[in-house]
Amino acid sequence: MFSSGFLANLGAVTALSGPDVLVVSDRTNHASIVDACRLSRSRVEIVPHRDVAAVAEALAGRDEDHAIVVTDAVFSVDGDLAPLAELHALVRSHGALLVVDEAHALGVVGPGGRGAAAAARASRANPTSSARSRCRNRWLRRAEPSSAPPR
Ligand SMILES: Cc1ncc(COP(=O)(O)O)c(C=O)c1O
Repeated sequence: MFSSGFLANLGAVTALSGPDVLVVSDRTNHASIVDACRLSRSRVEIVPHRDVAAVAEALAGRDEDHAIVVTDAVFSVDGDLAPLAELHALVRSHGALLVVDEAHALGVVGPGGRGAAAAARASRANPTSSARSRCRNRWLRRAEPSSAPPR
């Protein structure tokens, strides 16, 4: 049990890392993940935001026996979503681990607010509802204030 999200990231990332572990971290991850990476005693590769190809390249080119990919689920600054389904498939194919910070996703995203990992699982299990949610997201984007008609 951790008393804050900051400590949860510090605890999880440092527990799973070390000299024989590559840590791959999205450039816009929360500061607590950045600090955890610094304390990890691992080589850390910072990849461009939401860049699955860059994560794949980092995992494929590593010398370390183990690797973890760490990401916000909903990014704190931009509010966009990590490509969790793609990252999950990637880490599985490279024998790596995916660590997801759901701080901004729990209660907001996914079935019953269970988070972005649950949402990714649900869309894999039910492609029809995935297509429906893509339509809804497109509709939400169109409804953003920047594209609203002038009053
Ligand atoms: C994505 C994310 N992770 C971790 C934290 C840290 O959580 P706490 O404020 O509980 O230490 C925050 C805080 O805003 C956050 O946005």
